[in-house]
Amino acid sequence: MQEKILIVNGFERKLIVDPEAFLSEVLREQLHLVGTKVGCGKGQCGACSVIIDGKVVRACITKIRRVADNANVTTIEGLGNQANLHPLQTAWVVHGAAQCGFCTPGFILSAKGLLDTNPKPTREEVRDWFQKHKNVCRCTGFIPIVDAVMDAAKVLRGEMTLDINHNMPADGNIFGSRAPRPTGVAKVMGQWAFGDDQKLQLPPGTLHLAIVEARVSHANIKGIDYSEALKMPGVHSVITAKDVKGKNRITGLITFPTNKGDGWDRPILCDTKVFQYGDAIALVAADSEKNARAAAEKVKVDLEVLPAYMSAPAAMAEDAIEIHPGTPNVYYEQNHAKGGEVASYFNDPKYEVMGGDYYTQRQPHMPIEPDVGFAYINEEGKVIIHSKSIGLYLHLYMIAPGLGVEPENIVLVQLPTGGTFGYKFSPTMEALVGAAAMATGRPCHLHYNYAQQQYYTGKRSPFWTTGKIAVDKETKKIVASQMEWIVDHGPYSEFGDLVCLRGSQYWMAGYGIPNMRAKGFCVATNHGWGSAFRGYGSPEIMFPSEVLMDEMANKLGMDPLEFRYVNVYRPGDTTPTDQVPDSWTLPEMIDILRPKYKEALANAKKNSTATHKKGVGVAIGIYGSGLDGPDTAGADAELMPDGSVTIYNTWQDHGQGSELSTLGFAHETLKPLGLPMSRIHTVLNDTSKCPNSGPAGGSRSNVVVGNAIVNGCRQLLDAMRKADGTYRTYDEMVKDGLKTRYNGTWTAPCKDCDENGLGNPFACYMYGLFLAEVTVELATGKTQVDKMTLVEDIGTINNRQTVDGQNWGGLAQGVGLALSEDFEDIKKHSSLAGAGVPYIKDIPDQMELIYVESPREHGPYGNSGCGEVPLCGPHPAIINAIHNACGVYIRHLPAYPEKVLAGLKALGK
Ligand code: FES
Ligand code: FES
Repeated sequence: MQEKILIVNGFERKLIVDPEAFLSEVLREQLHLVGTKVGCGKGQCGACSVIIDGKVVRACITKIRRVADNANVTTIEGLGNQANLHPLQTAWVVHGAAQCGFCTPGFILSAKGLLDTNPKPTREEVRDWFQKHKNVCRCTGFIPIVDAVMDAAKVLRGEMTLDINHNMPADGNIFGSRAPRPTGVAKVMGQWAFGDDQKLQLPPGTLHLAIVEARVSHANIKGIDYSEALKMPGVHSVITAKDVKGKNRITGLITFPTNKGDGWDRPILCDTKVFQYGDAIALVAADSEKNARAAAEKVKVDLEVLPAYMSAPAAMAEDAIEIHPGTPNVYYEQNHAKGGEVASYFNDPKYEVMGGDYYTQRQPHMPIEPDVGFAYINEEGKVIIHSKSIGLYLHLYMIAPGLGVEPENIVLVQLPTGGTFGYKFSPTMEALVGAAAMATGRPCHLHYNYAQQQYYTGKRSPFWTTGKIAVDKETKKIVASQMEWIVDHGPYSEFGDLVCLRGSQYWMAGYGIPNMRAKGFCVATNHGWGSAFRGYGSPEIMFPSEVLMDEMANKLGMDPLEFRYVNVYRPGDTTPTDQVPDSWTLPEMIDILRPKYKEALANAKKNSTATHKKGVGVAIGIYGSGLDGPDTAGADAELMPDGSVTIYNTWQDHGQGSELSTLGFAHETLKPLGLPMSRIHTVLNDTSKCPNSGPAGGSRSNVVVGNAIVNGCRQLLDAMRKADGTYRTYDEMVKDGLKTRYNGTWTAPCKDCDENGLGNPFACYMYGLFLAEVTVELATGKTQVDKMTLVEDIGTINNRQTVDGQNWGGLAQGVGLALSEDFEDIKKHSSLAGAGVPYIKDIPDQMELIYVESPREHGPYGNSGCGEVPLCGPHPAIINAIHNACGVYIRHLPAYPEKVLAGLKALGK
């Protein structure tokens, strides 16, 4: 230990420190300055950026012994205060640059370091700075962040003024405005307390957990010896499967009866087998995370290692053993049959035929905040679990039998969440912390490091697709399609059948093809388990669809955009599920894009050089807003004694801004009461206080929960309305014996798909038309995306800033899906940088958004969903642009430079 004197945010602090501790640990654990966030913990994300003597440093890789005595350290807590925010903080709120807010303090400190040295940076200089300091945002696509820095610089130079209400609508109409999110100020001040920040608020006696992890991908467990671990400093206990009181399984809630599994395949703590790398075999509970992790290393697990099937083809091999004995590795099959037979079209010279094999990878979500949660037993004996869950009620029912607790005795609460993008549609650690709290009787906290985030949370399921289409040579209309797709869903079956179904729902979506045949297979493997990821099935299948459309256009000698124009939905057409589309705007969207597309083509031609070829690609992306069939949600509206209204729901927040969307719908509906936004309150995401609104996935919330909010508010208004058209006060409601709280509900007027994949599964769809402009460096095969344009029809818009943010963020993840992101090599891909997270210079500063607002019949105030569609089509557009630039089609994602280079070599270029 040594003494260290630091000047922290202007005040002298005398500290006794472990010289080997990192500055982030000293700031967070000793000074409780938790505004300094730790994401990767490896110097790769910039979330922990602080300023030391004028220099921006990453606190997670700065040993405290290297910080000079009397150094001036500035953290986010030293910038502005609530009444007087720093201009950077104000600009962040105004531009919606804090979505989940986890990267925010680090970015703001980094930006301060820039503006202190360069008060008038260009946009490119801002981008260069964030690149150099490795600041990563996974939510925003970086654009609003750069906008915020540019505006803050102007404010600091005295060229403009800005306050947080800059975008508050003057006419008071919140719905359809750019009103800022209410959580913005807490986020820019570093006061939005994420799960690892809340660790420090838990009571004395709280235990910290570490997982005894599987370091192989498939094995039988023969024994566990934790005697040495129990002797390690600070250890309270070791929890194994024997200590779990219930079935010790998380039910996968099998969706379809034809699934050959029973859904009880995922252990809470492994008992007989290890199914994938990182599986939890035991938990060590200790007085600190450090001690728990050190002790976990001492647990000896006796394993009989089995063959590991790391891809769907490997698990489908004839000699492959069953990963879950008794259930075949191919455990679900999905048929798709629309219209008549298709074979004749593929053998008739009247029709042009094109087909191929395609692969979309195991894309990792890469939230900047790694997974975290805690649990305790309350005074009534209930198990209370706080986590990043985006399916609170869903997860409650998935884990209750495994824990051996009646559902009414478990409460799930969502923590402020630093991004999920869908991985938290699956439970991750809820049952682990629950089991530990039940076994020890003490509050238990668990925090993954970033490697665990990568290998022990779900990933996008890889799709192996083989497809072909037949086109009438005269009319250029697609008359038939055929396809087979294989889903590698990892070892746990949860939602595997559902994501497999998505293959048939979105294969060639957007085009009115009369005859379609397809078959899908969902396969258990020993690689990372499959979970939801933005787009959930659509990006996987729209990639082959949209690259194949391009390939066919080339074969026909047609412009790819015009080939699409001939074939997109028009009245009389139906979707792949034989549903009538809810909007006919695709031709209009193409008309809007056409001049931009032509200009981009001309620019690409003009600006290509002998070494750098420019290209342009287009693609369509489509997604339904909802879970299949009669998807239902609840939301309550309550009149409060002071005349304000409180809305209760479980519209879980990934960081997308569900509280603001809730307020938008409520404010619009409650307009007759004349309440300002500040008089509508929200109580969200606690199963003990809020009704079941369903999970926040599949872009369902805006439609299904939105309608439930509108319904609840309307019921309240109806009850308050007097005969003369005025409204009762709270006291009058009580006096008249009227309820003050109303449960709004809404159910989608939809029908699940049948055994042939046909039905009307979704009430509202989202439509995107993507234009990518790229540069390919011929010497290296490296692709740079120069610009993305998205023409989008998502119905009317609730909050414009939220929607812009979702689109920029989704497009940025599409760039990663196309070019760099993967979780295949467990070692290499267990960090953000190793898994190919895009840094700011990988994402274009030009991302143009154009909205075609066609109101939806079933959407609240005409809204459809929003979050998924921007990731449904950017990757095929980029791949098509690479082909346009240099003649290479990449059919196996991601398009690493070496793959493009190999393609160029094969073409003799
Ligand atoms: S760089 Fe420090 S947490 Fe990522
Ligand atoms: S707002 Fe940047 S990571 Fe979420």
